[in-house]
Amino acid sequence: MSDLAPDSVEPRLRGRFGRPYLYVVETPSTQELFSEVELPEGAVAVAEHQTAGRGRSGRTWSDTAGRALLCSVLLRPAEAPVIPQLSLVVGLATAEAIEALAGVSAALKWPNDVLLDGRKVAGVLLERRGSAVVCGIGINVGQERHELPDDTRVPATSLRVASADAHDRGALLVELLDGLEQLYGSWTSTGLEPLVERLASRDALRGRRITLSGSEGVGAGFSADGRLIVRSDDGATHLVSSGEIGLA
Ligand code: BTN
Repeated sequence: MSDLAPDSVEPRLRGRFGRPYLYVVETPSTQELFSEVELPEGAVAVAEHQTAGRGRSGRTWSDTAGRALLCSVLLRPAEAPVIPQLSLVVGLATAEAIEALAGVSAALKWPNDVLLDGRKVAGVLLERRGSAVVCGIGINVGQERHELPDDTRVPATSLRVASADAHDRGALLVELLDGLEQLYGSWTSTGLEPLVERLASRDALRGRRITLSGSEGVGAGFSADGRLIVRSDDGATHLVSSGEIGLA
């Protein structure tokens, strides 16, 4: 039985996230699996393999069948969601779940790439569906080095490569859903401020020279509302709320 099969995952779920649990062997993208019925917040779709996995900014997200954690979580925020902040919340939940399961230190490349040793192990894609948000999370878990894509903007890694160990994807998913439920609940009731410390301690860009839309600067942390602070060479401080950050 797969470590992501319902019989493996459902008995371990701790909260309301993960119910219902939709599991398929193959799909174009787990982001599409919620389209037909009205499902509650916390519904989760998982696949062993995606044939048309989507990444941010129109990129693709590739996987090796049976090796990655590919999931989408349905969120129904009461108020219009502030997507940049929610991106950070989901990125933090992903980083903390990886740390708890694999005993590694994860970093966050704003807004929500999760890095191990400077290499990307996980990515998050948020897509609006009316007032709901479909939150897609891809984590490279069991891929060997030769199974990872070699043409990505940020070099890729997996939990297996980074920790030299095998990991149970079901256990990672249960940890992720529990952490996300708590962080999302905290964010919807008290905003981002109580989470800024946890975000800041994992900031991969602080003190690093970065590029954004042709300009360069140095990462200088996150603002209390989740924007990236960039200090340009003339000493001016800029607050960035969206965009693709490159490492110079
Ligand atoms: C990124 O870093 O560009 C975001 C990657 C998001 C990938 C996940 S895998 C599960 C879900 N389904 C998709 O098609 N994409 C997201």
